[in-house]
Amino acid sequence: MAGNKTFTMIKPDAVGNNHIGPILAQINEAGFRIVAMKYTRLTPEAAGKFYEIHKERPFYGELVSYMSSGPIVAAILEKDNAVADFRTLIGATDPAKAEPGTIRARFAKSIAANAIHGSDSDENAGIEGNFFFSQLERF
Ligand code: RTP
Ligand code: MG
Repeated sequence: MAGNKTFTMIKPDAVGNNHIGPILAQINEAGFRIVAMKYTRLTPEAAGKFYEIHKERPFYGELVSYMSSGPIVAAILEKDNAVADFRTLIGATDPAKAEPGTIRARFAKSIAANAIHGSDSDENAGIEGNFFFSQLERF
């Protein structure tokens, strides 16, 4: 059965371009409840660990330096079928291929600076949420 939580980050391009407000509004309007949230910045080491799954991919170095280039907003979101519904809401990795109206279609500039992250499985949602938030911070 699909879980009811996912994890997201508003990426440095979207934070830098003042898109936090409209992105959070779209997330809320789509029925997600914010259950933990943090404005922070990843060190290159932390970004490397977060995206360790992509270590062998050609874009890993670019991804790590990009994700540590400025502040981000990390959040745990709750909704039925959260992981799949949130991936639909954010759209394809490449904003040029994202459905109109999705968060990446509206706010992303490129495949690297693509505005937002969404977990790709219930298991990774748990791992990624734990990366940023302790039990005590969640409710
Ligand atoms: P995310 O994990 O950030 O939600 O993105 P995603 O699932 O849609 O895409 P994924 O395959 O997990 O890739 C992670 C992030 O790496 C960057 N990327 N760059 N230059 C490239 O060809 C390339 N491909 C991927 C993107 O920022 C992507 O979100
Ligand atoms: Mg991914």
